[in-house]
Amino acid sequence: MIKKLASYIGKYKKNTILAPVLMIMEVLMDTMIPYIMAMMINNGLEKGNGDLDYVIRTGVLMLVMSFGGLFFGVTSGMNAAIASTGLARNLRKALFSKVQGFSFENIDKFSSSSLITRLTSDVTNVQNTFQMIIRMCVRAPLMMVFALIMAFRLNAKLASLFVIAVPVLAVALYFIITNVHGFFKQMFKEIDNLNNDVQENLLNIRTVKAYVRESYEIDKFEKITAKISGIAVKAEKIMVIQMPIMMFVVNAINVLLSLIGGKFAISGEVEIGTLNSLFTYTMQILMSLMMVSFILVMLVMSIASAERITEVLNEESTLTNPENPVMEVKDGSIKFEHVNFAYEKGEDKNVLTDINIDIKSGQTVGIIGGTGSSKSTLVQLIPRLYDITLGSLKVGGVDVRDYDMHVLRDAVSMVLQKNQVFSGSVTANMHWGDETATQEEIKRACDLACASEFIEQWDDGYDYMIEQGGNNVSGGQKQRLCIARALLKKPKILILDDSTSAVDMKTDAMIREAFKNEIPDTTKIIIAQRIASVMDSDMIIVLEEGRVAGIGTHDELYKNNEIYREVYDSQVKGGDDDAA
Ligand SMILES: Nc1ncnc2c1ncn2[C@@H]1O[C@H](COP(=O)(O)OP(=O)(O)OP(=O)(O)O)[C@@H](O)[C@H]1O
Ligand SMILES: [Mg+2]
Repeated sequence: MIKKLASYIGKYKKNTILAPVLMIMEVLMDTMIPYIMAMMINNGLEKGNGDLDYVIRTGVLMLVMSFGGLFFGVTSGMNAAIASTGLARNLRKALFSKVQGFSFENIDKFSSSSLITRLTSDVTNVQNTFQMIIRMCVRAPLMMVFALIMAFRLNAKLASLFVIAVPVLAVALYFIITNVHGFFKQMFKEIDNLNNDVQENLLNIRTVKAYVRESYEIDKFEKITAKISGIAVKAEKIMVIQMPIMMFVVNAINVLLSLIGGKFAISGEVEIGTLNSLFTYTMQILMSLMMVSFILVMLVMSIASAERITEVLNEESTLTNPENPVMEVKDGSIKFEHVNFAYEKGEDKNVLTDINIDIKSGQTVGIIGGTGSSKSTLVQLIPRLYDITLGSLKVGGVDVRDYDMHVLRDAVSMVLQKNQVFSGSVTANMHWGDETATQEEIKRACDLACASEFIEQWDDGYDYMIEQGGNNVSGGQKQRLCIARALLKKPKILILDDSTSAVDMKTDAMIREAFKNEIPDTTKIIIAQRIASVMDSDMIIVLEEGRVAGIGTHDELYKNNEIYREVYDSQVKGGDDDAA
């Protein structure tokens, strides 16, 4: 996993190496200064009447080293920042393009909101830890080693006090970290839940308000946050022991140093400057131990994030291009032969069973069936949004799995049931269908979809800015814009999945009329709840519970198919408003 993530450092390798190298220099400076200080006091101040010259020389040296330390510290920090933000950028880029290549099945597996969390907070976690690691991982151990070496050089006897203190502290820290680890893992899982919850709520805030569910949502939110703070408190309870233990050991060493060192100093065995600097080294050594424990905690916290990122990076798209793809879709004919399909593989949960349909190029086909009868599922197989489980599905006489995926999807234009427009101008939205479309072509597509009538009433016309999620256009307008966008692809097959449900009957009929006259060679598949929308099709398919319950023209089905007759009678004879 670490190797995988490290490969995304990319062109920031230089900074990644520079940061710790500069840090080594800073540590060198920091640990040398107390040593020189000892020299200054011992040789400059203590000897006889003092040696001002020596004091000035060592003083200047210390000053230079302090500036050096400052310089190395700042540059190391800068390099670490560049390297870590660079890593984050590369990771996000890689994740984003990976997700773009995902099939619907891949996305179903992770869920959109979890993908958002992985792309945002998880990457930030890894970024912060990475920045810490390349600076502190070098600083802490080095500081300890250097400080120990310098202390021993100053006075081996007194420095041996550290040899006892360091292991005691290390054991205590180890104990704390291993205990706290589990809590952090738990906490991050809960934060995930929190993120999912917030995302779902905010994306659907209009529904929440429409159903007056605010207080329920607030309750739910409070429960999760209470759980998180509960776990965090447990973890912190253990973490807070760290500081007092540290301070206790530091103070104990200081007391011992004062006692033993004082005795040595009086007997002349140790000089005052040495003793003074040993106190500084005590602090440095213990600080570095503290840093190590901090790093370990950070590491524990970000391992979960790193795992979640690599999971996405390692995910293979379930739909892949064949080796020698067919690069042209000949015509708009579609043939289903004994097709079965299940969303969950391996289980006997077919949502489509034994589908046999033969559609000729240029035909208009209507599909009707109750909610959940798998209408959407059926048409999603045609542009290979999902792969069939069993049987064969041919478009233009060739198995859909043999086509280059882009070629196939360009030829099959689909207006999804959960259709979406994007923030940007009308024209920009139309360019999704065809990047090179001219203004005339756009207008023609909008005419066909009966969209130009309302676009041209807007002050900005085709420059009208659509808001995120299409919140400033009506449901019916959105549907018509989506149809126009699909038309611009000049597809061989056009699929409308319940795409005129929010359009009034008259406009609906006008759109169908326009299709018949203007794009006669395109195969048109229309899913609808209103029977009037499919009545005049060349072929109507009645779906029930994932099976074909009837195929034929309106007259044939009305005569022979009970389901169709019932639906027709209830909608037309029942005086349904829609069918009036
Ligand atoms: N992404 C998915 N993962 C798992 N199951 C799914 C998925 N999408 C749909 N299903 C299931 O497949 C069945 C058929 O759904 P489908 O959306 O095809 O019905 P539909 O006929 O289009 O319904 P509607 O008229 O409401 O649009 C349903 O039982 C549904 O629960
Ligand atoms: Mg549907």
